[in-house]
Amino acid sequence: MTDPQPAWWQRAVCYQIYPRSFQDSDGDGIGDLQGIIERLDYLNDGSERSLGIDAIWLNPVYPSPQYDFGYDIMDHQAIDPQYGTMEDFERLLYEAHQRGIRILMDMVPSVTSHLHPWFVESRASRRSPKRDWYIWRDAPRPGKRPNNWQGVFGGPAWTWDVKTQQYYYHNSLPEQPDLNWRNPEVAQAILGAMEFWLRKGVDGFRIDVLNYVYKDERLRSNPHCCGRRPYEMQRHVYDKDRPEAVDAGIRMRQLVDRYPGGMLVAEVYVNDPREAARYYGEHGEGANLVFNFSFMNAPFSAPRLRHEVDRWEQAIGARGWPCYFLSNHDNSRHASRFAAGRATTARARVAAALLLTLRGTPFLYMGEEIGMLDGIVGRHERLDPVGVHYWPFHPGRDVARTPMQWSAAPYAGFSSTRPWLPVHPAFATVNVAAQEADAGSLLRWYRRLIWLRKGSAALSFGGYQALDGVPGGVFAYLRVAGEERVLVALNFAARRRCFGLPGRGSGRCLLGWPERAGDAVDLGHIELEPYGVLIVAL
Ligand code: GLC
Repeated sequence: MTDPQPAWWQRAVCYQIYPRSFQDSDGDGIGDLQGIIERLDYLNDGSERSLGIDAIWLNPVYPSPQYDFGYDIMDHQAIDPQYGTMEDFERLLYEAHQRGIRILMDMVPSVTSHLHPWFVESRASRRSPKRDWYIWRDAPRPGKRPNNWQGVFGGPAWTWDVKTQQYYYHNSLPEQPDLNWRNPEVAQAILGAMEFWLRKGVDGFRIDVLNYVYKDERLRSNPHCCGRRPYEMQRHVYDKDRPEAVDAGIRMRQLVDRYPGGMLVAEVYVNDPREAARYYGEHGEGANLVFNFSFMNAPFSAPRLRHEVDRWEQAIGARGWPCYFLSNHDNSRHASRFAAGRATTARARVAAALLLTLRGTPFLYMGEEIGMLDGIVGRHERLDPVGVHYWPFHPGRDVARTPMQWSAAPYAGFSSTRPWLPVHPAFATVNVAAQEADAGSLLRWYRRLIWLRKGSAALSFGGYQALDGVPGGVFAYLRVAGEERVLVALNFAARRRCFGLPGRGSGRCLLGWPERAGDAVDLGHIELEPYGVLIVAL
C-alpha cells in the first residue's frame, strides 16, 4: 500500500506515555496530566531540537482502583483524580493539538474493574438487569469450576461469588471481571464510551487486547499442551482469538471513521503474524494498525529481525499498513533485552535506526530515546500483580515502568518526592538533560532519525524491499517512493562488514553512524563499522 496520499497515521511517529511515570507536577510521586503538558515541547515544538512526535498513546487515565494500574476501569468517561481533572485532560488535548500532536486514548473493551458500577449492579443479584453484562456460570457441581480456563496473571480464571452462588469469569485479575460481548448492550456501552472521547476531540484509540473480547460461546475447556506455568499448559483456542473479535474491531473502526482522522491501533498479543493480521479485516475494514509483537521475542540478530519484518509484510499484504515497536509497558525494555556490556548503546542505536526506517508506523516507548534500561525493583517494591504473583520466577512489569529520567536532579527530575516506583540508579548519567548536551547521544540520534524520516517520502511511506546477498550480521533494504530511493544498511555485528551493490554508482549519505552525513558513498563498496548504520539517498 503506497498510497500517494497517506493517512496521518501512516506518516506518524508515535510515542507511548505511561502517565504514572512520565512527569509528576504536584509532588505526590505519581505522574499526571499537567506533567505531560509541561513536557509537550520535548516531544514536539516544531523544530529539530525536539523529538518530532506526531501522536501520543496514553496508557489508561480513567478512574481505577489500580489493581492493574489503570487496566481495571471504574468509569470510562472520567479522569482519575490521581492524574488530574477533565479540565486538565482538555487542556492536554488543546496543548497537544497546538503542537500538531494527536492523542490516542487506551480503550479497554474486554474487562472492567470489579468496582465499576456495571459490575456492582451485575453482581448484586442473579436477576439484575446487568447480570448478563458479565460472564456468570453455575458450578457444574459443588466446588467445581465451569471449565479449565486459567487467568493470564496466574490462578484460575473463575471466582466464586458467595452472595449469588455463581462463578464469574476474569481473564486477568479477579478484580477485572470480563464483559460479555455477546450481549449487544455491552458493545453499545463500550462504543458509547469511545464516542464520548471522540466528541471531546481525541484522535483515536489503542485497543487493549482486542483478541480477548469474545470467548467461546459454549465456554469449552482449552486443550492441554506443554508449558511451564498453568496458563502456558493450555492451547488458548476457546478463551481468546475467537473470529467474532475481528468483527468487534470492525465495529469500532466504523465508529472512528465517522470522526475525520480517527484511527485505531489494536493490541493483538499473539505469536503468529497471520493471526494478528486478521484484525486489519479482510479488506482493511478493521483496525487501521495492529501492533507487531514479534520484535519482543526476537534477539538482536539481523536475519531474525529481517525474517520478522518479511513475515509481517507478507501477512498484511495489501490490506493494511504495518506497525512496529520495540518496547512497551508490559515487557522488558529493548535496551536491556539487547544489552551487551559496552556495546549496549551502540545496539540501541542500530535498533532505533531499524524502527525508524521500516515501512510501517513506529511507536516509541517513553525513555527508549535515552536508552533507559529495565528498572531495578526489589521484591518488596514490586507492585505489578504479575511480578508479585510470579516472584522470583518473573521480573514482573514494574521494571519497564520506572520513572522517566529527565535530569541528574533528585528523583531524576521526575518528581520532588519519592516516586511510586524507584528511579533507575543510572539516572545521573542516563537522562534527557545530559543527552541534550551531547551531540553523540542516543537522544540526538533518535531526533535525527525521526526528522529525517519525516522529511522523506521514501522513508515515511515508501515501499520496502529487503536486499539479499549481504554479509552475515547485516540487514539492508531499500525504501522507495516515486523517484526517491533510500538505502538503509544496518550492521548488527560487532565487526566491520563490507558489501557492494555493483552498477549503482554512488549515493549521498543522509545519516550514518559513525557520522558521515553528506558524504558520497561508493555503492560498489559499502563499508559498515561495527554496529554501524548507513542511510543513503540513491
Ligand atoms: C494489556 C495491557 C496490560 C494489562 C492487560 C490486562 O495487555 O497492556 O498492561 O495488564 O491488558 O488488561
